[in-house]
Amino acid sequence: SNRIMLGPLVAAIDQGTSSTRFLVFNAKTAELLSHHQVEIQQSFPKEGWVEEDPKEILQSVYECMDRTCEKLTQLNIDISNIKAIGVTNQRETTLVWDKETGEPLYNAIVWLDLRTQSTVERLINKTPGRNKNHLKHKTGLPISTYFSAVKLRWLMDNVEDVHKAVLSHRAMFGTVDSWLIWCLTGGKKGGVHCTDVTNASRTMLFNIHTMDWDPDLCNYFDIPMEILPKVRSSSEIYGLMVSPDLFFRKITCWDQSAALVGQMCFQDGQAKNTYGTGCFLLRNTGSKPVMSDHGLLTTVAYKLGRDKPACYALEGSVAIAGAVVRWLKDNLGIIQTSTELEKLAAGVGTSYGCYFVPAFSGLYAPYWEPSARGIICGLTQFTNKSHLAFAALEAVCFQTREILDAMNQDSGIPLNQLQVDGGMTSNRLLMQLQADILCIPVVKPSMPETTALGAAMAAGAAEGVSVWSLSPEDLTEVTSEKFEPQINPEESEFRYARWKKAVQRAMNWET
Ligand code: G3P
Repeated sequence: SNRIMLGPLVAAIDQGTSSTRFLVFNAKTAELLSHHQVEIQQSFPKEGWVEEDPKEILQSVYECMDRTCEKLTQLNIDISNIKAIGVTNQRETTLVWDKETGEPLYNAIVWLDLRTQSTVERLINKTPGRNKNHLKHKTGLPISTYFSAVKLRWLMDNVEDVHKAVLSHRAMFGTVDSWLIWCLTGGKKGGVHCTDVTNASRTMLFNIHTMDWDPDLCNYFDIPMEILPKVRSSSEIYGLMVSPDLFFRKITCWDQSAALVGQMCFQDGQAKNTYGTGCFLLRNTGSKPVMSDHGLLTTVAYKLGRDKPACYALEGSVAIAGAVVRWLKDNLGIIQTSTELEKLAAGVGTSYGCYFVPAFSGLYAPYWEPSARGIICGLTQFTNKSHLAFAALEAVCFQTREILDAMNQDSGIPLNQLQVDGGMTSNRLLMQLQADILCIPVVKPSMPETTALGAAMAAGAAEGVSVWSLSPEDLTEVTSEKFEPQINPEESEFRYARWKKAVQRAMNWET
């Protein structure tokens, strides 16, 4: 046949909050060969609640795989060359299913969900000195609605089926990676129930020093350890994919921090910011878990093999980034597509004094304030939807600036440029604004899917087909684009100071 000979290929399932993707890369050159994307429905059954359907999530993975393989076949690329598949996923989103029927026992509670706000407040009030960082020495995390333990607790307390399944030893808990891997490796007929260290580090049940589930933390949240998945490294073979049967590939996983690897941030001090539903700025701190004094999380970045050491990162998490675009589209209807947002905003080039703090799920880093709520202020008769569009983009940039400031303070060594990736980076106006607001250059790789690339490379490395020594010179296409700050720093500081005022109003808005 006239099939194209490319050598081994590696793939990634990228199951994000807003969409699922399947991407196939050349294992040697990291070139993206084909991909497919499907949007995921979210439901908001009550104010502050965010849910997704576990079966729809699984179905979307199948659909993306099928379509990508069709595209590859059309390109005359032999899909049997896909040697390993990595999973990267929305992280703290919590699922419980029945291991005998294979059925989910409730919808997935999405990380953004606020239903546990009162539980979180109660837990914090019970700690000595009302300290939200009471568990930080073990978990690296503040007690917050963000992480899985409180969501799992809610499911056990409020969903009869979950409660019963736990009592009768039929319940399995997992984040999205665990659910997918269990289903893809056979489900009720012997699926593998596992997660990786990076996803585990976001549950609040995992001790980031011992690198294992922590009996005291499980006790604290009253969670039986038998429902937890087995914790593995981020680059090893978890099992064989048996469904859909077109694949018999090895599968491995990890999360968000895969972008650190996809962006080659292997060195202590290197950082990247991923713009997805939220924004996640991670700075590699090497083999030491560094505790933040400025509201950042300490998280496991990767562990590239069973016997390899763990690498840690400081993380600044912003809950609402791309989600603000979806909100303007779905809730206000002022735009039809995200490209339209960029056009509207570019048309005016200013928010005209309007500030938009999208604290829809409270505020995450560096504030960790679940009771904060969104606010739009500085409106005048003159303000129109274009200014609002601009303010929404600016909000993403200001939130990143707050995190970068915290990170610079924690490390004492300011970053002199920011590496970025993720869907929103195709918005050039956003990238320019980001450079303007940070007052440092923003560098975007020409292939922005670096999270998926990192996951695919980890999978390929576990299978021995892709190499970690992949250095920028080895890559066929490592072109990147640099956005230099264009406004003067005084102007930038002025706007940032205004933003901070708006944040204070969002924080104290109920009192
Ligand atoms: O912590 C949540 C994060 O992992 C979500 O990722 O890709 O859906 O923005 P994404």
